[in-house]
Amino acid sequence: MTSQPNWLDYDVDQMVHQDKERLWHHLKSHTCFKDREQMIVVEGDGLTIKDIRGNRYLDATSGGVWSVMVGYGRESIAQAVYEQLKVMPYFAGAFGTIPSIKLADKLVQLLPGLDKVYFSNSGSEANEKAFKMVRLASRISQERKGKYKILYGDRDYHGTTVAAMSACGQFERKKDFGPFVDGFAETPHCLCYRCPYDKTYPGCDIDCARAVEQVILDEGPDTVGALCVEPITAGGGIIPPVKEYFPIVRNICRQYGVWIIMDEVVCGFGRTGKFWGHDHYDVDPDMVTMAKGLASSYEALSATAVKQEIYDLVLNDPDNPEERTHYFRDISTYGGCTAPMAAALESTRIIEDENLVENSRKMGKVLLDRLNELESLDCVGDIRGVDLFCGLEVVEDKKEKLPASEAQMARLMSHIMAEGVIVGRTNASLPGLNTTLYFVPCLTVSEQEIDRIVAAVQTGLKKTF
Ligand SMILES: Cc1ncc(COP(=O)(O)O)c(C=O)c1O
Repeated sequence: MTSQPNWLDYDVDQMVHQDKERLWHHLKSHTCFKDREQMIVVEGDGLTIKDIRGNRYLDATSGGVWSVMVGYGRESIAQAVYEQLKVMPYFAGAFGTIPSIKLADKLVQLLPGLDKVYFSNSGSEANEKAFKMVRLASRISQERKGKYKILYGDRDYHGTTVAAMSACGQFERKKDFGPFVDGFAETPHCLCYRCPYDKTYPGCDIDCARAVEQVILDEGPDTVGALCVEPITAGGGIIPPVKEYFPIVRNICRQYGVWIIMDEVVCGFGRTGKFWGHDHYDVDPDMVTMAKGLASSYEALSATAVKQEIYDLVLNDPDNPEERTHYFRDISTYGGCTAPMAAALESTRIIEDENLVENSRKMGKVLLDRLNELESLDCVGDIRGVDLFCGLEVVEDKKEKLPASEAQMARLMSHIMAEGVIVGRTNASLPGLNTTLYFVPCLTVSEQEIDRIVAAVQTGLKKTF
C-alpha cells in the first residue's frame, strides 16, 4: 500500500513547466507566456501573497476578482471545512443538511424582506436560477403570464454561461459567443463621467434611470418579468449610480410588475462599507444573488435569495393550489456540498465579529482620499467608487477624456507590479475603454497597506505617462 502523498509538495521547475504545458488560464492570451513565466501563487497571509519564486506582493484585488473578503490564511475557515467534511461532506440539495439550514437562516437574517434561499456554486449559476424562476412564474401565474423577459444594464456583467451572457452589457466579452438566448434587453449605463446622454449630474433629470421605462414599453410591459442589475457595476468599470437612480428604477419596475434581481455577487458581504451594495440605495429587491464573498472564496458557493411571494408562485400553480404539479425543476449538484457552507458560516462570522464592514467603510474613505490626491495628474480622468470598491479611469488626454491605449495600460500594470503591488483593471470587456484601474483589497486592509497601494500606483502612473 502506498502512503498518502503530501499534495502540498512540489518541484518548482516542474510546476513552471507544467503550468505552460497543461493549464489553460482564464482571461489571458497565452502568447504572452511564450517567453516568460506566468506567475504561480503558492501562499497567502493577510493581504500578502507569495509566488513560486519567493516574491511577495500586496494584493489589492482580493484574489484577482474581488472575492477573498477576510484575507488569506484563515485557519478557522480551514478548520470549519475540515470538521464538516469529516461528518458529512455531501448530500444533494433535495435534502437538508445542517450547514445549509444554518446558512440559509443566516442569509435571511441579513436580507430583511427575503425569505427563501436556493444554493448553487457560481455567480453565473445564481443568476441563471433567478432567470429560470422568472420564466417559471411567467408560465404558471395568471398575473405574470408571458412576463419572461429580463432587462440588464449596459456595462453590467452577470456571468459566463450563455444565458448569463445574454444579460451582459460588455460587448467584448460576448462578441464571439452568440447567438444568445431570446428575451433579454439592454438599458443604458449610469456612468456620469461618460454620460450616455452627454449631460451633467445633477442637472440631468437622471435620464439613464428613466430610460428603463422606455425599454419596458418598447419590449411590451406584458412580456417583461425582471430587471437584473448590479448595485454598483463592477467589471464594467466601477460605476456607483447616483442616489436618485434606484428609487426611480424601483418605481418604474413596480409600476410594470417587473421584479428586481439584485446581483450582489461582487458588492455583498461588506465590500462597499455596508453589508450589501444595495443598502446604499433606496431599493427593495425581489431577488438577491450572491457568490464570491459568500464563502470568501475559500470554497465555491452561490445563492439566490427570493421573497416568499416568488417562492409561493413558483412552488404551486396558483390556479390549482391543491395540486403540487408545479415546482422548481432544477438542481445544482454542487449546491449540496456542505464544506462551502461551513466556510461561508465561518467567513460571515469573521466579517461580523471583526467588524470588517466597518473597517471597509473606514479604510474605504482613506482609500478614496488618497486616490483623490492623484486627481491632478494629467493621466487621471476620473476617480470613483464606494468604500473598498474604487476605480481610477486612466486617460491620455484629460480634457478630451481620451482613453489610455492598451499598450499604456499594459506598461502601467507592469510598473505597478514591479512595486510589489497587484491592482486590477477592466480587461477585454468594453471596446476602447478597458482603462479603469481597480482597488478592491480584502476588508482587513490597514492604512499602511493603502498607502503602499496608492504609492505604487502613483509611481506606475509617473513612469508610464
Ligand atoms: C456582478 C457579477 N455577477 C456575476 C458574476 C459571475 O460569477 P461567477 O464567475 O462566480 O460565475 C460575476 C463575476 O465576476 C460578477 O462580477
